[in-house]
Amino acid sequence: MCGIIGYIGDREANDILIAGLERLEYRGYDSAGVATIHNNSLCINKKEGRVQNLKELPKLSGNVGIAHTRWSTHGKPSDRNAHPFTDNTNSFTLVHNGIIENYLELKAGLQEAGVNFTSDTDSEVIVHLIAKAYIGNLKEAVLKVVNYLQGSFALCVINKDSDEIIGARNGSPLLVGLGDNENFLASDASAIIEHTKKVIYVNDFEVVGVKKDSVNIYDFNGNEKPKEIKTINWDLEQAQKSGYKHFMLKEIYEQPKVIEDSMQINFNEMLNTGANFNRIIIVACGTASYAGLVGKYVIEKVAKVPVINEIASEFRYKECLINENDLVIAISQSGETADTLAAIRLAKQKGAKTLGLINVVDSTIAREVDDVVYTRAGPEIGVASTKAFTSQLITLYKLAFHLIGEEFQFDVEKIKQALLLNESIRKLAKKYYQSTNFLYIGRNLSFPLALEGALKLKEISYIHAEAYPAGELKHGPIALVSEEMPTVAICPRDSVYEKTFSNIEEIKARSGKVITIATSGDEKIKKVSDDVIYIPEVQEILYPLIVAIPLQLFAYHVADLRDCDVDKPRNLAKSVTVE
Ligand code: AGP
Ligand code: GLU
Repeated sequence: MCGIIGYIGDREANDILIAGLERLEYRGYDSAGVATIHNNSLCINKKEGRVQNLKELPKLSGNVGIAHTRWSTHGKPSDRNAHPFTDNTNSFTLVHNGIIENYLELKAGLQEAGVNFTSDTDSEVIVHLIAKAYIGNLKEAVLKVVNYLQGSFALCVINKDSDEIIGARNGSPLLVGLGDNENFLASDASAIIEHTKKVIYVNDFEVVGVKKDSVNIYDFNGNEKPKEIKTINWDLEQAQKSGYKHFMLKEIYEQPKVIEDSMQINFNEMLNTGANFNRIIIVACGTASYAGLVGKYVIEKVAKVPVINEIASEFRYKECLINENDLVIAISQSGETADTLAAIRLAKQKGAKTLGLINVVDSTIAREVDDVVYTRAGPEIGVASTKAFTSQLITLYKLAFHLIGEEFQFDVEKIKQALLLNESIRKLAKKYYQSTNFLYIGRNLSFPLALEGALKLKEISYIHAEAYPAGELKHGPIALVSEEMPTVAICPRDSVYEKTFSNIEEIKARSGKVITIATSGDEKIKKVSDDVIYIPEVQEILYPLIVAIPLQLFAYHVADLRDCDVDKPRNLAKSVTVE
C-alpha cells in the first residue's frame, strides 16, 4: 500500500510534498517521487529507495504537485518503476495506490495504439488512458477512465496546463485536506496534519477536483456530491496508525482487506516450476513456519500431495535428502530471513524446484526462487506478524486448490464477524494478563494455530507460553497444569472435537483454568471451560483463518494491559537477517 500526496496553493510544493511523504513512509518505502508544474511544464524527481533520496536532488519549482512513496506490487523497486508516471507527451503525470487487476489487457491495447511504456508497473496504464481520453477537461477524462479500471485505486493526476489536481478513489484510501487558500490530497491524515485538521474523506466511486480555493466531489457518473467536512482529532503519530493505538491492532483490522487482495492471487504465474513434482517441502521460520504447517494439512487433504514441513534453521544443517522431484516452498513476509534464504539456496543446490510465498516484492528470497507469488499483505510494521500470516494462509489454500484445478472460495465476512470479538477479548485479557505461564493446545488443523497463538503471546507480552498437540498433554506437559497455569484450548466443532473435548476435561480434572475457542452455538463446551470465545461456524478446513483472529487479539490485549511495547517488542526485529 503506497502513500500519495498532492498540494495546490501559493506556497512552493516541493518541500511540502516531501515532508508529507516522510509521514507516509510507513506505508511503503521501495521508491519515492515528486512532480510539480512550473511554467506549464512538468518537473519530476524520482528515485529507488527512501524518501530521503529525493532531498538530495535539485528542488523542483512550482506550487502545484503530487508525490508518492511506493510499496511495490507489480514491477520491482527501481528508478524506472517509481511513481509519478507521465504520458508520452509529458503533459500528464499521475501517482497511484492500489492494484489494477486488468492492467495487462489495458497495456496491450495501449501498446497496440502506439503508446510507449517506461515502467513494468500496473499503475502506468492509468496515465496513458487519461491522456488518450483527454479532450480539454481533466476531470471528464478521469471520469471516463475510472470505468475501465478493475481492482483498487487511489490516484492523483495533474496536467501541465491545469490549476487543478484530480483525485479518484475505489478501494484505497484518499482524503482532501482543506487549507487557507491551499488544499491537499493524501492517503491519510498523517501527511497533512501539520497544515490542517479539516478534511473531507473521499469515498469509493468518487472523483474529486481540488483547486487552491475550491473542492468539488463527483460520483463516477459525474454527478456532483455534497462535501462532508470533518476535523481530525488525532495527533500525528496516531494518524499514521489511522487512530489505532498500535500498528499491530491496525494490521489485525486490515485483515479483511488483505484477504480480499490475497484472494486475487493467480497461481498461473508459476511459470517455471509447473506441476511436475512428487512432494512439497515447506521451509520457513516463526509465524511463517506455522502458516506452512497449516499449508501441509490443507495441501495433503485437498491435493493429496505429501508435504514435509521444515524449520529453516534446522533444515540447512541436517542430512538433506531432497532432489529434482521436489518442490521446495519458502514462506517469508520479509523475504530476507537468513535461515530461510540459506534453506532455499541448499534446495537449489540439490536440484529442487523452488517457489517463494513472499510479501516484500523483489526481496532477496523473491529474487532467488524459480517462481515467486506475492502475498499482498502490504507493509507489515508491527514486529508480531498478523495480516502477513493470514495472507500466507490464503495463499496456501489457493495453492492447494490450484493443484487440483479448482478455485478456492472464502467468505471474508467471517473474518469481520471474528473481529467483533475485540471488546469481549479485551475483557478476557483483563482476567488473565497477570498470569506467568500459558499452555496452548489444538489438534489437527488447530495445532499450528496453537503454536501461532503461543508465539504471539510470548513475543509481545513476554509471558511464557507453550503449545502442544492436544493429544500430547498426557505424555508429560499435563504435569504443569495447575490453577496458576491457564490453557487456551482451540476446540471448534470439527472432526476431532470429541478428542479435544476430552483433553479439556483432563485439564479441568486437575484444576486447570481453560479458555476455549469454540464454534458459536456450542453450549456443551461451556461445561468444561472457564471462558469461551465463540467464533463463527465455517467448514472444518477453514477454521485456521478464523481462529487466528481471537488468538491475535488476545495476545495484543494481554501485552497492552502489561504496558509492553507491542509494535517493537524487546530483543526482536521485524526481519531476522542473521543466523
Ligand atoms: C512472527 O510474529 C515473528 N515476527 C517471527 O516469528 C517471524 O514470523 C519470523 O522471523 C519469520 O519472518 P519472515 O516471515 O519475514 O521470514
Ligand atoms: N501497484 C502499484 C505499484 O506496484 C502501487 C502499489 C501500492 O499501492 O502499494 O507501483
